[in-house]
Amino acid sequence: MYKEMSAEERRRMLEDEMKAYKKLAKKGMSVDMTRGRPSKEQLEIAMPMLEAAGYYDYSAGVADARNYGEPAGTKAARALFGELLGVKPAEVIVSDGSSLDMMYNAVQFAMQFGVMGGVPWNKQGRVKFICAAPGYDRHFSICAAFGIDMITVPMKDDGPDMDLIEPLVRTDVSIKGMWCVPKYSNPTGIIYSDEVVSRIAAMKHAAEDFRVFWDNAYAVHGLYGNDDRLKSVYDAAKKAGNGDMIYQFASTSKITFAGSGVAAFAASEANVADMLGKMFFKQINPNKVNQVMHVNFLKDVENIKRIMARHAEILRPKFELFERKLSEAFGESGDVRWSKPRGGYFISLDVPGCAKRVVSLAAEAGVKFTAAGSTYPYMQDDADGNIRIAPSVPSLDETEFATDVLISSIRIALLERSLR
Ligand SMILES: Cc1ncc(COP(=O)(O)O)c(C=O)c1O
Repeated sequence: MYKEMSAEERRRMLEDEMKAYKKLAKKGMSVDMTRGRPSKEQLEIAMPMLEAAGYYDYSAGVADARNYGEPAGTKAARALFGELLGVKPAEVIVSDGSSLDMMYNAVQFAMQFGVMGGVPWNKQGRVKFICAAPGYDRHFSICAAFGIDMITVPMKDDGPDMDLIEPLVRTDVSIKGMWCVPKYSNPTGIIYSDEVVSRIAAMKHAAEDFRVFWDNAYAVHGLYGNDDRLKSVYDAAKKAGNGDMIYQFASTSKITFAGSGVAAFAASEANVADMLGKMFFKQINPNKVNQVMHVNFLKDVENIKRIMARHAEILRPKFELFERKLSEAFGESGDVRWSKPRGGYFISLDVPGCAKRVVSLAAEAGVKFTAAGSTYPYMQDDADGNIRIAPSVPSLDETEFATDVLISSIRIALLERSLR
């Protein structure tokens, strides 16, 4: 960006930018853009669910929801998530508040007990997961916690780089899993193309106990209506004879209450039986009272979409403000690139060679972003470029301030680098 200017001009520009940055920092504001959490205003949307909690009929289902029974979740909750994910109720387990917890369980069960009667992963030597990056830091943390080796592959605009992945998974029996956030991906916001979904679904895998962890956390989280389509990986996998290869996950963390909603696992009936067999020893049944509350409040997918339109009304202006200000500041410069998501909770920003410096400058001025590197396995972003922006929690005014700080921090980091 500053290539055309003389060193002297750049030095002067850096001094001016430093003054502007210090002026912003002096405001003494504190804004947290580290994690994708719903704002208070969004959380209010689900409050009628709690207000009506005394009036729901908890005994209307197959078993009284207030009592033991139905370890896979209530029939109605399984049907609702089945509708959401396009699978049969028998292919769903509805559990407690966190899909990440279910992903962790799936990995732990596979490590310790094996998948569908197979040898436990931790008795097969070192095992590996395919991790497209930039990706979701918590997926990578699960691998790190279990000592699973991570193979980093590039995330492209239409999904993970399948040209690299296919030959690896086809030939390496130690590759046991692959993380995917297929819709409004964390953090790049992309939606996997039909072609990528088809290729994933049809993948030949050397390891019989290889599983695709399809984390559909943002299935109905569009900012511009909910018409963005994602091809069904499970239907395609079944057609390709790979039905058992897919584990799907979803939750209502960003539909009702984060961490206090309900989460679901969807897979072939054989996988569901395998999972329930392992869950049997740790839990008699999930919190079905919460499931009754959720089903009565959410009703069906059409109603969920209406609820999500209200979330989008709150979120969209923050994303658009960010987009407008960054476009004004950097246009199509090429040195600074950012995603323009149509849904989800994140914007992904790339400033090669400057991410750590930008995050640190922003923090000093009162704006916290996720640590640079977090979107890569082992925190290893070789380009030191990617920063994940989570604009959901701050108010519009705070978002405006945070974006100004970010723009100033980027300019400073770029100018400093150009003068090195
Ligand atoms: C891709 C993705 N998966 C899972 C989660 C966590 O979901 P849950 O609250 O259901 O554990 C998040 C939260 O940010 C996420 O971005």
